[in-house]
Amino acid sequence: MSTTTTVVIAGATGDLTQRKLLPALFNLKCKGRLPENLDIVGFARRDLTDAAYREMMWEGVRDFGDFGGSRTEWDAFAKHLYYVRGDLSDPSSFDALAQLIESCEAPFDRADRLFYLSVAPEFHGPAIEGLRRFGLNDETDGWRRVVIEKPFGHDEASAHSLNETVRTAFQESQTYRIDHYLGKETVQNLLVFRFANAMFEPIWNRDFIENVQITVAEDVTVGSRAGYYDTSGVVRDMLQNHLLQLMSVVAMEPPATLEANAIRDKKVDVVRAVRRWSRDEFALNATMGQYDGYLAERGVTPGSRTPTYAAIRLLIDNDRWQGVPFYLRSGKALASKVSEIVINFKRPPLSLFDGASDQEVEPNSLGICIQPDEGIHLSFQSKIPDQGLLSAARNMEFHYETAYQGQRLPEAYERLLEDAFSGDAGLFIRGDWVEHAWNIVDPLIEAWAAPDGPAIAGYPPTSWGPTDADALLARFGHAWRSLCTHG
Ligand code: BG6
Repeated sequence: MSTTTTVVIAGATGDLTQRKLLPALFNLKCKGRLPENLDIVGFARRDLTDAAYREMMWEGVRDFGDFGGSRTEWDAFAKHLYYVRGDLSDPSSFDALAQLIESCEAPFDRADRLFYLSVAPEFHGPAIEGLRRFGLNDETDGWRRVVIEKPFGHDEASAHSLNETVRTAFQESQTYRIDHYLGKETVQNLLVFRFANAMFEPIWNRDFIENVQITVAEDVTVGSRAGYYDTSGVVRDMLQNHLLQLMSVVAMEPPATLEANAIRDKKVDVVRAVRRWSRDEFALNATMGQYDGYLAERGVTPGSRTPTYAAIRLLIDNDRWQGVPFYLRSGKALASKVSEIVINFKRPPLSLFDGASDQEVEPNSLGICIQPDEGIHLSFQSKIPDQGLLSAARNMEFHYETAYQGQRLPEAYERLLEDAFSGDAGLFIRGDWVEHAWNIVDPLIEAWAAPDGPAIAGYPPTSWGPTDADALLARFGHAWRSLCTHG
């Protein structure tokens, strides 16, 4: 029986498609990891011929792809790349789309379809509705799956209603809500690190861990994305999804198997157990900032109070984590691009060596560096030679680059697309997780959006954010610690 697969990308001319999706699909092709017969159909509002669309996507592959497939390989691949002009809110557009899909599938006995919604959130609903109305979701002769880009809703209520809309056309097992952080090699390694090494799991709890810090810092400003970003801000753009997902992987219990729902059940348990702060409580457990110069960016509303930096303290009310603060911070226009998770261990019960100098001995820390220098750092005390019993913190380090001899780490989208083709949703977000995550951050967003809400602190670009973020931790007897940068 002959089988074909069609990928339909709504939002086909957007940045994400050009910079990430097509390069990822092409890399998978070069690695021989795509389904044998595959057509890609780009769907967007601009008026383009197939040839113009292919050229536009080639520019993305050439400039942003990192695998090194040749132009000849691309030309062969691009013969299966098509373009349909259409508007997701106009039902007649789906007619042309359906016709093209059918003509791609006609020579085959069986046809699978992956719909990738890389469009602004207000188009998620209409896109699902259009697919349903034209029967494109109908699984009579192959599987149908939908990949939905973030943001998934803009608060709990809208995420809930989007989940309901999606369910009118696709079952949960056909729905792949994407968070590209989960496709990063180092994030996947977290599961291996935690559950394939006997020495960490026994100490991964409140008895040994003092606090956990998760940082996703970016050096870029909002640049040309102000139109989107100003209505979103750092909490919706980064915290509700990437940072809470990282926290879920760090804090989850071991799953019974590696099956998608076994893993996702454990992640949902984490967000369910996060203590809900009210708006007033968030005022004591969070700080927000906006980089100096943000208001002058093109597309930003005058006087905007959109935060570009957030630091928050969360608690997880379960047996493993009771009383251990999780500090999460993210921001734009910071000193450098770095994503890391730092596990700070408790002090040794007896501070034998504290008297050896006028400084307290630094407790152990484990730094998991997600990017850019992917690896793991374990900081421990060692005796400084020839200086009595003075000790200093030194790192034991693992770097992917040297450990795997410069082997290229695949782009997150490669892994995620591959999983979507093979029907493994383990690295995708389940509907209930999204709603819990919004439920956690909604009061935070509301608190700062209120006209009489807490102040938004300014911070100079290329700094490490507002000093209030240091004060937040100091209030609880902690300080930010970085093992991957000096921030
Ligand atoms: C996206 C956000 O989800 O993640 C962007 O919308 C952000 O604002 C990006 O820049 C960061 O991703 P990465 O992989 O470069 O850390």
